[in-house]
Amino acid sequence: MINRTTIDQVFETARVEEVIGEFVHLKKAGSNFKGLSPFVDEKSPSFMVSPVKQIWKDFSTGKGGNVISFLMEHEHYSYPEAIRYLAKKYNIEIEETEQTDEQKQAQSARESMYLVSEYASKYFHDILLNHPKGKAIGLSYFKERGFTNETIKKFELGYALDEWSAFTDEAIKKKYNLDFLAQTGLTIVKEATGDKPIKVFDRFKGRVLFPIHSMSGRVLGFGGRILKTDKKAAKYLNSPESEIYHKSKILYGIYHAKQAIAKEDNCYLVEGYTDVISFDQSGVHNTVASSGTALTSDQIRLVSRLTNNITVLFDGDAAGIRASIRGIDLILEQGMNVKVVAFPDGEDPDSFAKSVSTEELKIYLKDNAQDFIQFKVSLLSKEIDRDPKKKSQLINEIMQSIAKIPNQVQHEMYVKECAYILNISEKVLFGGLAQIIAKNKRDESNKINREESFQVVKKEEKKVEFVEINQLNILEKHLIEILLIYGNKETEFIDFVEEENEKGEFKIVKKAFSNTVSKEIFLHLQDDEIEFTNETFKTIYAEIIPQLNQGERVSIEHLINHENPNISMTVSDLLMNDERYLLSDWESKHIMVKTKEKTLSKLVMDAVYNMRRVLIEEKINAIKTNLMNVDDAVDTDIKSRHSDLEMVKNYTSLKQLLYEKLYRVV
Ligand code: CTP
Ligand code: MN
Repeated sequence: MINRTTIDQVFETARVEEVIGEFVHLKKAGSNFKGLSPFVDEKSPSFMVSPVKQIWKDFSTGKGGNVISFLMEHEHYSYPEAIRYLAKKYNIEIEETEQTDEQKQAQSARESMYLVSEYASKYFHDILLNHPKGKAIGLSYFKERGFTNETIKKFELGYALDEWSAFTDEAIKKKYNLDFLAQTGLTIVKEATGDKPIKVFDRFKGRVLFPIHSMSGRVLGFGGRILKTDKKAAKYLNSPESEIYHKSKILYGIYHAKQAIAKEDNCYLVEGYTDVISFDQSGVHNTVASSGTALTSDQIRLVSRLTNNITVLFDGDAAGIRASIRGIDLILEQGMNVKVVAFPDGEDPDSFAKSVSTEELKIYLKDNAQDFIQFKVSLLSKEIDRDPKKKSQLINEIMQSIAKIPNQVQHEMYVKECAYILNISEKVLFGGLAQIIAKNKRDESNKINREESFQVVKKEEKKVEFVEINQLNILEKHLIEILLIYGNKETEFIDFVEEENEKGEFKIVKKAFSNTVSKEIFLHLQDDEIEFTNETFKTIYAEIIPQLNQGERVSIEHLINHENPNISMTVSDLLMNDERYLLSDWESKHIMVKTKEKTLSKLVMDAVYNMRRVLIEEKINAIKTNLMNVDDAVDTDIKSRHSDLEMVKNYTSLKQLLYEKLYRVV
């Protein structure tokens, strides 16, 4: 774990406008910066960064937060990845905590392997671009395949000289440790035996290289393509599995494609390195490759961090289609939507992309995307015409796929489609589907029973969340907003109090007095024993009230960089909303923006009274429901019903009074 001091130092040093400025073109707007949203395509800016508050807000998607949350949203980093990125950018040394010696060793071994891999990638790329042999052999090969300089640089393509140990020798000279060269598989070591000394070989000698990047852009390994037509040697040679390279957990191209995948809300899945690169060069940036192996659920989960939609692209030839169909079921099982595009005979995505224009490619992908039912049907339709028995087999196969989908609503949709395409009754299909699902469940539970019985099997349930418009929530949020922005301000408040005059009469009189906003709110809420219902607001309130009541400034920085992401997001959201008007250049058009401060006391009192009003309404409703639910047959206590009614009356008149107060304060 990264220790707290490092995290604090990162927050202290990092400037949100500098970090975001690397990804978004920012223009000054008042004390803020604005720019086009990096999350959607738009013409007028809705994205705003506040250097003063060190937060950002994207008004078109509602996203916002601090510098870390930007990196998490935009670069899809995890929290530690974002911290590490910033530490690197600002040259802050990362201190780790609570690590055993073994963990430290493993950590530094992994770190060393990353460094070796990064060095290797730079070295091979440099050879490709600058070494005479690299240029003559490697570069000209890529050029022949139609890759532009820009593409070659973007994917950091490389070439390993056709010599036994040119790379290893250079790396050793640069003080890289042979152990890590061996552990990453870049160097093959033949240990010394008897009279023979130790020997080292470059694994990728004579091959062009495709570095494989992690989601956050670190080099994990390489794919190396042979250039000679040698029947005995494999066309592609890949880095072996290692501490940093797990083939089944990574997709080639994910680093370069991640933003486009999120933006397009779709991911194209191809087989090969060259497919990814050609698509990218043709303007289809949301493409990744499984690198020729069967898709795994880890790989699908990687994509699901970015989008819920995968489109699988098949080569023209039939080979591999069976394997890919299993991949489709795996995608369905993860609750993702899957589409399929097949290419004409003999074409793979790479060759197809090269044979058409960007426009044509995009149209082809759009027009030929089929859902998995259409795809399976079209795959077997010729055979079905010849052999009707095949039809029931196909139906069974499709139902098996549908049964994998966790979402029931989708079951219905697909069953209807299948019934329509294959001309079978929906009822029969639903019956069949129910049987398959029941059988799967039995198999599953048998499997669990066979496994050790004390093992708890956790299944992730995807809950449907209903967004409820909660009045109280809005009011609580409003109160927090007022506290954050105006908490320390002192202003004139008005209240109505009962007073006895000289004649001994009681009268309601209007009284003005001065108080800070925070104390006024605190007193009102305490008087009525009002507690926040929303956990986040409650925590924020509990954190800021003691500061405010002691006349201290609220530590906004602390809240913005709070370790609880809900708090940091809520606070930056509230603070940025205040600046929204800056986006529209109103000031330059001489339209005065009404500041809230002018009527600060009204703002505060309205918020407090409205809160009371809603709470009273809730009370009234609760009592009413209670009254209605009383069963007359049961011996009801008339007295208690009367007192309930009495309470409703009291609350109603209290509500009336509040409305009057709200009105009078105006
Ligand atoms: N692959 C591999 N090992 C092999 C063959 C293929 O790892 N011996 C992987 C590579 O990731 C390759 C992908 O499978 O990119 C698809 O294989 P293929 O279609 O043969 O390669 P292409 O990417 O089309 O390469 P090229 O166009 O250079 O022949
Ligand atoms: Mn190819």
